[in-house]
Amino acid sequence: MRTGETSHDAVEWAGSDVGKLLITPEAIHTRVKALGAQITEDYLDDPPLLVGVLKGAMVFMSDLCRSIALPVDIDFMAVSSYGSATRTSGVVRIVKDLDAELTGRRVLVIEDIIDSGLTLNYLRKYLQARHPASVEICALLVKEGEQRVDLDLSYVGFQIPPQFVVGYGLDVGERFRNLNGVHIYDGDENRPAPVLDRRRRDDNIAS
Ligand code: IMP
Ligand code: MG
Repeated sequence: MRTGETSHDAVEWAGSDVGKLLITPEAIHTRVKALGAQITEDYLDDPPLLVGVLKGAMVFMSDLCRSIALPVDIDFMAVSSYGSATRTSGVVRIVKDLDAELTGRRVLVIEDIIDSGLTLNYLRKYLQARHPASVEICALLVKEGEQRVDLDLSYVGFQIPPQFVVGYGLDVGERFRNLNGVHIYDGDENRPAPVLDRRRRDDNIAS
């Protein structure tokens, strides 16, 4: 069996721009279980509405929700922020809004990564305006020293250095969300990842 993601190397199919494995699939699994257990304890009396922020949070959400032993509700939002491909400006456009009614609900926002924190800061205010009982945030990753607002995060998976990362839901130009671990991205984060040609891919598979 080929597992592909060891602590030493990147994944064969991903190409050389996908660099060092920063967080192993095993470490993620252990941490997500612990977060789920903590959330279960904290929300025993009033199970939360989990709000995933698409698309980055999809993988984290699907694992985390199954680590919570409570009857949670699940909904998603999609946002796009104005700015360059990798730098948000803090001005957020709601691309897909929630279906759920928020009044009186305890809302737990599930996010893949907090960089400047501007996206989540905007989202929290947007959700709070709909009179929920509470809005808390659970982020898988937080980039150290990059936040421009105080977000008061209730649950954090990992603090990471301020480098661009891909995998476990996180992308560059929509690619690499399906890596099992979180990797440093060594390519140009402002340009979409190059497409591997079929011959190269076949070579990789054969080797
Ligand atoms: P913020 O508003 O600066 O906190 O940006 C948060 C959003 O930017 C995340 O939800 C991601 O979509 C994206 N982002 C920030 N850093 C990274 C990264 O290292 N890899 C992939 N996406 C990132
Ligand atoms: Mg995101």
